[in-house]
Amino acid sequence: MEITDTLKEKFYELYGENGSKPRLFFAPGRVNLIGEHTDYNGGYVFPCALNYGTYLMVRATEESEIKFASVNFEYKAFVQPEDLNKKHGGEWVEYPLGVIDQMKKMGIKPSGLELMYSGDIPNGAGLSSSASIELVTAFMLNTLYGKEIPMIDLIKISQKAENEFVGMNCGIMDQFAVGMGRKDSALFLNCDTLDYDLVPVKLGDYRLMIVNTNKRRGLTDSKYNERRSECETAVEIINKKKPVRNLSELNLAEFNEIKHLIDNEVIRKRAYHVISENARVLEAIPALKSGNLLRFGELMNESHDSLRDNYEVTGIELDTLVEEARKIPGGIGSRMTGAGFGGCTVSIVHRDSINDFIETVGRNYSDRTELKPVFYQPEIGDGPGEITNFK
Ligand code: GLA
Repeated sequence: MEITDTLKEKFYELYGENGSKPRLFFAPGRVNLIGEHTDYNGGYVFPCALNYGTYLMVRATEESEIKFASVNFEYKAFVQPEDLNKKHGGEWVEYPLGVIDQMKKMGIKPSGLELMYSGDIPNGAGLSSSASIELVTAFMLNTLYGKEIPMIDLIKISQKAENEFVGMNCGIMDQFAVGMGRKDSALFLNCDTLDYDLVPVKLGDYRLMIVNTNKRRGLTDSKYNERRSECETAVEIINKKKPVRNLSELNLAEFNEIKHLIDNEVIRKRAYHVISENARVLEAIPALKSGNLLRFGELMNESHDSLRDNYEVTGIELDTLVEEARKIPGGIGSRMTGAGFGGCTVSIVHRDSINDFIETVGRNYSDRTELKPVFYQPEIGDGPGEITNFK
C-alpha cells in the first residue's frame, strides 16, 4: 500500500469525515554528500534533498484545537491555542509546535486544524527527519493561510524552532537542504552568507547508496553541542592573534601558521577538521562538475577519515560500514552523513555492484556488529510542495 493511502486511512480513522477534503503536503529529507560539521562554523556544505520525506494531511475545522497525530508514532496531542507554547516531554510534536510558535511571530495564528503526519525516512538517522517535519509544517501553514513568506524565511523559522523550542543547537544545513532542494541537484551552500549554487549530480553509471547503521542514538545532542563549543574555544584562542568570526575564515595555510597557538590537542584537531573539510568541499565541487567522480569519491573517504580521527564523531558502527563499503569493487567513496555517532553512511557505487554491495556489506557488517543495516537507493528530489492529485 502506498504511504499516502495509509496516511489517508489513518486520517479518516482518527478524525472521521466532515464533508471537506483534506489537503496533502510533502517535504523531503536530505543527505549531505560532503562538508560535515562545517555549517555552524560558517563553512561549506553540499547536501541534496531526497525522494524520501514527510507527508502531512491537514483539514481545517470550526474548533480552536490543533490536533497532532502521526502514522509513525503512538503519541498524539490535541492542543488548545493557549497551550501551543508548552513542551511535550521530548515527543515529536515539539517540532511542529516549535514551528507554529515561530509562525505566530510572522502573523500566522493557526486554529482548528486536524493534522496527520507520515514519514518514510528513518528517524534520528542523520537524514533530517526533523527538518523535514519542520518544513512540511511551515510550508503547509504558509500555503493554508495564504501567506507569502519566502522559502528562506521558512527555513530560518524551522531552524529557530529546533534551536529554541526543541533545544537542539543545529546549524542551517538541514533546513536549507530540505527547503531549497531541487531534483537531481545538490546545494553548494556557503553557510556564512547563505549564497548557494545548484550543482547537477551527474553520476553516470554510479548510484548513491545510503545505509543505516541501525545503531540506537545515544548522546548525539550533548556530543554535538560539545563539538560546537570546542570550535568556539578554538575561535577564541585564534582571536588573540588574528581576528576571525569563525573557523571558516581561515584556509589551511593560514591555519598552519597559527595552529601552535592552540595548546590543547583535541581543540586543535577539531579546528583542523573544519578547515580541511572546507578545503575538501571546495575541491569536490569542480571534481563533480568536470565528471571526475573518482576524485569526488576520494574526498568523501577523506572526509570520513577526518570525522573519525580529528572530529571523533563516528564510532564503531559507522566506521565498520564505511570500511566494508570501501572493500567492494565498484564502490568509489563512502562516508558518514549528518551529525554522526550512529545514523547513516552515504556511498557512491557502480550500478553493476549494487547487489554485491547490499549482500556483502550487509553480511560483513552484521557479522562484525550484530546489527542489521538497512539499505536505501535514493533519488535526489525536490523541496516542499503540495500534492493536489491524490484520491
Ligand atoms: C546535524 C545538524 C546540522 C549539521 C550536521 C553536521 O545534521 O542538524 O546542522 O551540523 O549535523 O554536519
